[in-house]
Amino acid sequence: MICKTIVEGTTKVLVPVPPPDATFPPSAAAVFYNPEMELNRDINVAATAALVEKLLSRKGILREEIRYADAFSASGIRGLRIAGEVGIHTTMNDWNLDAFELIKENIRINGLEEKTLATRKNANVLLHEKKFHIVDVDPFGTPSPFLDAASASVQSMLSVTATDTAPLCGAHLNSGIRKYAAVPLNTEYHSEMGLRILLGACARELARHEKGMSPLLSHVTRHYVRTYLEIIPGAKQADRTLKLMGFSIHCPTCGYRESVYGLAVHIDMECPVCGTRTQIAGPMWLGPFREPDFCNETISELEVHPLNTKDKAKKLITFCRDELDIPMFYDQHVICKELGVSATGIETLIEAIKAYGFEASRTHFSGTSFRTDAPIDKTKEIIKAVSG
Ligand SMILES: C[S@@+](CC[C@H](N)C(=O)[O-])C[C@H]1O[C@@H](n2cnc3c(N)ncnc32)[C@H](O)[C@@H]1O
Ligand SMILES: [Zn+2]
Repeated sequence: MICKTIVEGTTKVLVPVPPPDATFPPSAAAVFYNPEMELNRDINVAATAALVEKLLSRKGILREEIRYADAFSASGIRGLRIAGEVGIHTTMNDWNLDAFELIKENIRINGLEEKTLATRKNANVLLHEKKFHIVDVDPFGTPSPFLDAASASVQSMLSVTATDTAPLCGAHLNSGIRKYAAVPLNTEYHSEMGLRILLGACARELARHEKGMSPLLSHVTRHYVRTYLEIIPGAKQADRTLKLMGFSIHCPTCGYRESVYGLAVHIDMECPVCGTRTQIAGPMWLGPFREPDFCNETISELEVHPLNTKDKAKKLITFCRDELDIPMFYDQHVICKELGVSATGIETLIEAIKAYGFEASRTHFSGTSFRTDAPIDKTKEIIKAVSG
């Protein structure tokens, strides 16, 4: 395997050089490394550092006692960065022999022998054998086969990446239903749908282990969903968590949408605005997908760590922090197309909605999306007005 050294944060990592004809990301390489995920890993360093501070100040744990599992480690890059840049003990695991050997070499290069352990197991075996404060699930594609073991192991924070965005957001419907036991809907807010379906699956897995969750931070791009879930142990916490599960109603004609909380619910099938038969997605997580205080603490951590993607990460988390807690965003372009008017700047629209006395915010999902508590017909009226 021909390798080169790259630097992320303050960590040096040997990664394989992909063959010249490799597709991207280079899945043909002996050990996986995707430079495009640096933003994801930088945010992971900052969010984990923020969680560690929370544990140290509120839970009376010593830094030396905190255990992090990088269960799908490949080159070791995530775990190495956590051990070196956050300073907590990390287990780096990968069942692939080339990966395991590379992890050990990368531990040596960074002089992190004291703070780390390399293992070569099926991630599910590792996570059923041992408990960790923080469990990082970063597999190829869907995390669904690993959520049970991760939920059994995790004590403080579960961090999950899902790259199977097509099943999650309804583009590959049956695959999504099989993996997440939920029905997604492929709408203009499919990216939020995917996040909420994933969060719902996590909430139900954790509940089976009598653990509740509180999402600290989540972000979605075209290629992946990433979420950080604080774990709150106890059957009562699990019950409280499940109360935030439910279904999302969507009208394909006028764009009306509504959330219905609960797992056994009666759903009125007709759109109250235009009378069309509505579509239903779920069960999914309908609660907040981030905590503003935790976003602020993560932003503060971004400031103190040397990170290449700092500005981009700050912008993303700031957007995420400032989103209203109203499920299922609108897309200005979709509404404008329906109305036959041209779109204005998104900030202008937000200000206009607020001027009418409603709440409104942008979202981190896309530059043309917004949230509001204004009813759909009122929102359309305002869009028409601002479009002249
Ligand atoms: C997407 S890569 C991990 C990328 C890495 N976390 C990073 O940030 O660069 C997934 C890795 O998980 C390993 N893997 C897949 N399934 C596994 C399993 N069931 N148990 C252990 N390792 C597994 C693969 O060998 C691969 O190296
Ligand atoms: Zn309708």
